[in-house]
Amino acid sequence: MNQYQEMYLEKKKTAAELAMYVKSGDICACPTGQEQPVSICNAVGDRARNGELENVVHHHTLCVSGGPFTDPALKGKYDYVSWFTGGSCRKVIQDGTYSYVPNNYSTIPRYWREVMPRLDIFYVQVSPMDSHGYFSCGIAAAEVPAMMERAAVVLLEVNDQMPRVMGDNFIHITQVTGLCEVSVPMSELPNAPLSETDRIIGGMIAAEVPNGATLQLGIGGVPNAVGILLQEKSDLGIHTEMFTDSMVDLIQCGAATNMMKPIHKGKSIATFAWGTQKMYDFMDSNPAFELHPVDYTNNPYIIGQHDNFVSVNSCIEIDLFGQVCSESIGTTPFSGSGGQVDFVRGANLSKGGKGFIAMLSTTKGGTISKIKPTLTPGSIVTTTKNEVDFLVTENGIVRLKGQTARDRAKMIISLAAPEFRDELEFEAKKMHLI
Ligand code: COA
Repeated sequence: MNQYQEMYLEKKKTAAELAMYVKSGDICACPTGQEQPVSICNAVGDRARNGELENVVHHHTLCVSGGPFTDPALKGKYDYVSWFTGGSCRKVIQDGTYSYVPNNYSTIPRYWREVMPRLDIFYVQVSPMDSHGYFSCGIAAAEVPAMMERAAVVLLEVNDQMPRVMGDNFIHITQVTGLCEVSVPMSELPNAPLSETDRIIGGMIAAEVPNGATLQLGIGGVPNAVGILLQEKSDLGIHTEMFTDSMVDLIQCGAATNMMKPIHKGKSIATFAWGTQKMYDFMDSNPAFELHPVDYTNNPYIIGQHDNFVSVNSCIEIDLFGQVCSESIGTTPFSGSGGQVDFVRGANLSKGGKGFIAMLSTTKGGTISKIKPTLTPGSIVTTTKNEVDFLVTENGIVRLKGQTARDRAKMIISLAAPEFRDELEFEAKKMHLI
């Protein structure tokens, strides 16, 4: 047994014992997505339920499955703060039970380093320790170094089913206050079947992607379709925020080699992942795949160093001025800005770069147009009119950059469903846009 294994045993405790490090008023946080240490959070919840804790907060970007901090019975004792709304935690933000911190994803590490008053407890699920004393934070690097720098107490939940992933996401045993062990399967994000319209939109974008381009594909059916439809290309690179199953397919079929990238040649780069077990197996100890902190992956100046950078994201609604709402339905929060703006800006800085906002022209069975004269009152502007580049729906593809407001409005109307175009034109004329 080496010195690190001895330290491991000294620091090993139960989740209930680790929860005793948490004090009333503490700020707790874990990195993005499935990095939530479920057993430790549950043990903190038990203490809150027993009346031992007040005013503890849990900060989390993309909390997938909830936890005791979203139990309204624990309100005021152990409370959720969302940094990106989604999964089963959407409802408790929508009904106002808990709140969220507006942000572009790239800025979150800086908030933790410079803006947040302190971080009392950093707790995280990790893969098993290696012989050198290092734990990989598995499927997210996003906020890891920043939170590690700020945290007073570091608690690990070691899951033998968490993949060991390379990159800037390691924690050393000497930095750890205490740890516990679990064995739980990774949560999987099933791949929705591609619809005919997804294929049409994906095909139009794929036709715009040159061989050798570097890709970011966002969240949703359309970005996923683009990934699938790019399999005929060659020498693609991957520098993205969320790693997805369609990217694994691009690598395994030989379309993505990463060999044309100016930085991290030969490697796929992301900041977190969520997909199927097939994807987790691909990431495990794979030297051709690395996770890096989100202030690096999503930094527009890093993204812009890749020539022909292609970013594909989706939205809720766009107006005739080209303002893009991707995170609320009217006043109701639905998602977050995430890295959409980071990647739109990065693609704008890239020589030959292209940023696509892709969506179906209607929703709710064709009854609601996602193209509006002006954004629905209360809609949050995610990507501004000055930064939007290509817009794509099943009705076509247009490039808005460099066009007059009048021409842009006409181009946007041409992508609406035919039954909504007359009304859009009528409203555009009333606004003297066309
Ligand atoms: N009016 C009313 N409802 C709308 C709507 C609109 N304009 N647009 C979408 N909706 C509803 C849909 O009907 C659907 O409802 P349902 O769940 O009851 O069926 C729901 O909102 C989701 O819409 P959908 O188009 O299926 O979403 P998606 O899974 O393709 O995701 C975004 C689209 C915009 C939510 C997603 O891309 C996102 O979160 N973006 C912000 C973050 C981001 O871009 N990150 C990028 C870096 S990874």
